[in-house]
Amino acid sequence: MNGRRWAVVAVLLLVVVAAATLARQGRNAKPLPGQTLRALGTQRGILVGTAVRGDVLKGNRAYRQLVAQQFSTVTPENEMKWYATEPSRGKFDFGPGDAIVAAAQGAGQAIRGHTLVWYSQLPPWVDGLDRADLAAAMREHIQRMVGHYAGRVGVWDVVNEAITDGGALRRSVFLRRLGPGYIATAFRLAHAADPKAKLYINEIGAESIGPKSDRLLAVVRGLKAAGVPIDGVGFQMHSNLAGVPADFVANAQRFEALGLDVAITEADVGLKLPVTPAQLTAQAAVYTTIVRDCLKVKCVALTFWGFTDGRSWISETEPGMGGADLLDAALRPKPAFGAVQQALAGG
Ligand code: XIL
Repeated sequence: MNGRRWAVVAVLLLVVVAAATLARQGRNAKPLPGQTLRALGTQRGILVGTAVRGDVLKGNRAYRQLVAQQFSTVTPENEMKWYATEPSRGKFDFGPGDAIVAAAQGAGQAIRGHTLVWYSQLPPWVDGLDRADLAAAMREHIQRMVGHYAGRVGVWDVVNEAITDGGALRRSVFLRRLGPGYIATAFRLAHAADPKAKLYINEIGAESIGPKSDRLLAVVRGLKAAGVPIDGVGFQMHSNLAGVPADFVANAQRFEALGLDVAITEADVGLKLPVTPAQLTAQAAVYTTIVRDCLKVKCVALTFWGFTDGRSWISETEPGMGGADLLDAALRPKPAFGAVQQALAGG
């Protein structure tokens, strides 16, 4: 072969390698049919959001484009949790959170900071602290986190999952060492670090009226009475085909009557595997109710806990369950996606 032929072969090889690399990185997202969720949300006066994963946001263009197109608010799924941001005491790593914030700002999105004080996903060193040390560590963690993101993260889940299903205060390390006052302290510290940020208490499985939500209401009432700066309550809304509790609207309205904002913060609808077409239809109906109920209570935001079955904590952590999100693993819309669009449009 002469030199010229070699050059042609080399160029062809390069083209093939480049094409394969692009394909592996994920092509451009196929535009989803109809209006975007964020545009539909804007028309109804609510933010529509998703939890995002920093590594996927960075590495997968199709995922990144969908996040930017479809959502007006994002919540870092894990990157702002205590274990991720302060793995050893006083040594903060804001990098992964900062990357998500930068991407969100580029896409004109609001950011929900998640979460400051939670019993789970704590770095191991927190558990070994005595009362005075834990009080100091919590103070430093809140001050540094909220201070670092002041002006960029507009909403914080200050305290997450503080109540048990039975309606008691959860015996977290914070309750055991600091007593029930840790909740008020956390809110006061967050407010001092960024007086403009909206501060939420966020809860799982408190959608219906019952011991858990009653206790949450009592806690919030106590905070308000004591002049603690709390702005809202987040209902996570992790769901399945049992559907949304019929009294969710009435429940949420009890909190609004105290002067609080309400947001749905982590909605998804887990299915039993293997997923059938009938389940997908039923799932779409549950998503419709979630959207309609959110609109009924004039929620300020509706955030899904991920938007694709390919990147879902349900598939990853609940054995036998999956298929919880609006798009399938190949980023194609499921019936639930159209249902959410339609419900946002007022249908
Ligand atoms: C989950 C994440 O989605 C998982 O990736 C992680 O392994 C565990 O935490 N309630 C919350 C969220 O407030 O932070 C949890 O997120 C899901 C339940």
